[in-house]
Amino acid sequence: MQVSRFSRVGFILAAAGSAVGLGNVWKFPYMTGANGGGAFVMVYLLTIVCIGVALFLAEVAIGRLSRKDPVSAFRDLAPEGKKGWKWAGFIVITPVLIASFYTIVMGWILKYIVLSISSLPNSADKAGALFGGMVTTQVGEQIFYFTIAFFATFFIVSRGLIKGIEKANIILMPLLFIILFALMGYAMTLSGFGDAMKYMFVPDFSKITPNSVLAALGQAFFTLSLGVGTIITYATALPKHNNLLKSSVMVAGLDTLIALIAGIMIFSFTFHYGLTPSEGPGLIFVTLPSLFGDMGTFGNLISVLLFVALAFAGITSAISMIEPSIAYMENYLKISRTKALVIIGVVVYILGMLALLSNIEGLKEYVTYFGLGFFDILDKLTSMILMPIGGILTCIFVGYVIDKTLLRELFLEFMGEKFFNLWLFLIRFVVPVCVLIVTVSKFLA
Ligand code: PHE
Repeated sequence: MQVSRFSRVGFILAAAGSAVGLGNVWKFPYMTGANGGGAFVMVYLLTIVCIGVALFLAEVAIGRLSRKDPVSAFRDLAPEGKKGWKWAGFIVITPVLIASFYTIVMGWILKYIVLSISSLPNSADKAGALFGGMVTTQVGEQIFYFTIAFFATFFIVSRGLIKGIEKANIILMPLLFIILFALMGYAMTLSGFGDAMKYMFVPDFSKITPNSVLAALGQAFFTLSLGVGTIITYATALPKHNNLLKSSVMVAGLDTLIALIAGIMIFSFTFHYGLTPSEGPGLIFVTLPSLFGDMGTFGNLISVLLFVALAFAGITSAISMIEPSIAYMENYLKISRTKALVIIGVVVYILGMLALLSNIEGLKEYVTYFGLGFFDILDKLTSMILMPIGGILTCIFVGYVIDKTLLRELFLEFMGEKFFNLWLFLIRFVVPVCVLIVTVSKFLA
């Protein structure tokens, strides 16, 4: 039984802290750029509303009803004879895999905070060479920053759900909002702002392809931290009469708002300086620093703010990737928290190191499988396969396995009968079928 509880705002900030991460500020803008702008944004928003929120509520239900780690939760909420469902709880492995490459990106961000203070490249070519050089040749430096990000993450988790995770979120999330709003305010004064709005909100339907739909779905899962046990774990500490619907909608709303703000801001800069939006993962590391580097001291200031915001967003997400497996080991396996942290820490560190080396010239051959570097394998495996599988399992479990009267009792306090039925319909039919079709079609294509 989970005894410690979040405060009301604590849950919202912690869940939003998990949701708002590099996925919003780094991945969303570059995926929008790579998938044709407005059309991608539209599919993404549709996915968040129709699939994301419903699934988020399903995970909240599992956590709140069981008040246990994901493995125990699936076991305890399954009726007699169906206890094999506990295996679904092993979705907690997915975020451990995510944390391994996510921490590397956090390392890059730390390095860019330092660069922003000292010397930014002042042309796109130099910025590209700098970023590419760092990723593909700088082993020691990357390990150094990766290690800092790694220890910062595990330190917060080691302090526990309330004293570590809730507290970090209560401090860092408001700071993140302030910085992003300030940067957005500045972006609005640029001539590229109008183009950015057009690029993001006027869809060109010819750009919608099966690939971009899958990308949007993967991004919706990733950004809301779905299908990995994170929301289940945080929901175990929800205060008693918390309005689950309101909290969930607020988290999804905040997450979407931040992604859109990040996108608008980054594309305003991009268009203002006549750069291309389809830069890929380097968008935030190449395009932006080069233009900040060209702006003098003011540019340095903006750059520091942006990367500090990214670091805050990243760490509040990274801690939420580690907590589910720690909760499982502590509660289910009865291992001490410290031991659990060491075990998961070793796994994340080794996998992270392999992922890091898979980008390094001369070494990458050793960590490339099926033609993909280990870094990309972790990224693609988690967001395109494991997260959708986790989502489908959650839908089947909540839609068909859990005792429906439990769900009704839980939800009817906050929503009408009609809304509850609509939600259940989404969870039983719409979400799993959509996720299945989109995921499988990728492999048939
Ligand atoms: N939602 C986070 C982001 O957008 C990533 C994340 C995935 C966090 C899975 C926890 C679990 O960056």
